[in-house]
Amino acid sequence: MNILLASSEVFPFSKTGGLADMVGALARALANEGHEARVVTPLYRGIQKKFPEMRRVDWHFDLPLGLGWAQADLWELDLERGLKIYFIDHPGFYDRAGIYHEGNISYADNAERFIFFSKCVVHLSRYLPWRPNVVHVHDWQVGLVPALVSQQKQEGWGNPPPIVLTIHNLAYQGIFPAEAFALTNLPKYYFHSDGAEFFSLLNCLKAGIAYADSITTVSPRYAREITTEEFGCGLDGLLRRRQRVLTGILNGVDYTEWNTTKNPHLFKPYSVGRMAGKKFNKAELQKILGLPVAAEIPLFGTISRLAEQKGVDIQLGALAEMLNTKMQFVLLGSGSPEYERGYRDLVRHFPNKVSVYFGYDETLSHRIEAGCDFFLMPSRFEPCGLNQMYSLRYGTIPIVRATGGLDDSVIDWTENPKRSTGIKFAEYNPRALAKAIRKALVLYSQPKLLADCRQRAMTSDFSWKQTIGHYLNAFNSITTHKQEQY
Ligand code: ADP
Ligand code: GLC
Repeated sequence: MNILLASSEVFPFSKTGGLADMVGALARALANEGHEARVVTPLYRGIQKKFPEMRRVDWHFDLPLGLGWAQADLWELDLERGLKIYFIDHPGFYDRAGIYHEGNISYADNAERFIFFSKCVVHLSRYLPWRPNVVHVHDWQVGLVPALVSQQKQEGWGNPPPIVLTIHNLAYQGIFPAEAFALTNLPKYYFHSDGAEFFSLLNCLKAGIAYADSITTVSPRYAREITTEEFGCGLDGLLRRRQRVLTGILNGVDYTEWNTTKNPHLFKPYSVGRMAGKKFNKAELQKILGLPVAAEIPLFGTISRLAEQKGVDIQLGALAEMLNTKMQFVLLGSGSPEYERGYRDLVRHFPNKVSVYFGYDETLSHRIEAGCDFFLMPSRFEPCGLNQMYSLRYGTIPIVRATGGLDDSVIDWTENPKRSTGIKFAEYNPRALAKAIRKALVLYSQPKLLADCRQRAMTSDFSWKQTIGHYLNAFNSITTHKQEQY
């Protein structure tokens, strides 16, 4: 199959979270399976310098954007066999210090930036000599693609490819003032309550849900959750109406990036049969964190955007209580200044037990995954979550709240001791998380049980090989269906 993927973030070119990992890994997995995957993404600052082998394509975009026009160039990079990346080069829109914001302030022209990007995706889908069988768009930034394609179909595009929309996080919808709708150059009738309009505002993700041929989200449980009022972020009604084309597919892990045997970020390799390396990684991590180097003290870690979704409030509450026991904690995160203050307070109270790093650090993230004993992910909601799956492979027992993909990927110690790979808790409050941490301390005090649990965690398989078939089914079902229509 020829699959054109479109995303505002793709690892290893740009990343603010799991979206980048997922799209990068999915494209690679499709190519490995013998399909032809091409990915479209903006050319952000720094990418060209890091990948000087990219080439300019003899193609110039000149597309209407509201009352004006916007121009861009196209670059391409052959990443590996069957995998090409297209970069949309509009220096005014994408050559900036951040992807969506600087400091904590969103760029004022995000509507222009991503509506233009969506138009470039549609233009490529239509005019590339290489014809995609499916266009696979990810999140709100390209949510308008299905509507733009449907409009071009009405204006004479004979046989457009079907569009699959994957929702990575329903909490981010790309909502803009109604005036931004003019930038789409779509006819007025797309701006109604079953389309792009949401309480008189433009909602890019909603437009995607309304007009995509097929919708997926990143875990089976989240697919069910988002059709309820509690998790639906105002779109549950529409999602219920579209339930027939909505499926949940758990993300896979790219084990060529996330592994403990061939990983340049780690202090020493290790594996199920050679666990001494994990101890070494823990000691080195304790050293660089400035914590007492002690094998017997359990080390807990978190790597996260500091956002409400991630359960920071209950984590701060639970840690304030539990750090009075024998344990250490490390955080790598960035986000809300208010949450950062909360973690700084923890360091002040427990200077010998807590270490925090604010910012983004790829190497440190692998070192934390490898050096910790337990990984905390107490999310309020979690569409899939990747870090708990990385933790499993690194033998770092995940402690997760039973929601979304966290529930789908971790087997709880109390519920199923013989198959368990982690610890789960249900209620969203600091007490429930503190209780889960207490269970972890009990597990830590029983080396045989801990070793068995680690072994099960490290050998559980979330590779894309397991997952890719679900995406191919989703692609095949709509391409067959579409062909029947013509
Ligand atoms: P989300 O996409 O909601 O942030 P995921 O668990 O799906 O959550 O993915 C988060 C990804 O971002 C993981 O690869 C994680 O390691 C990475 N990450 C998050 N915060 C940081 C950080 N401060 N430094 C380095 N990597 C980070
Ligand atoms: C989103 C979600 C996260 C998911 C990631 C990749 O950022 O918050 O749960 O793992 O996308 O699909």
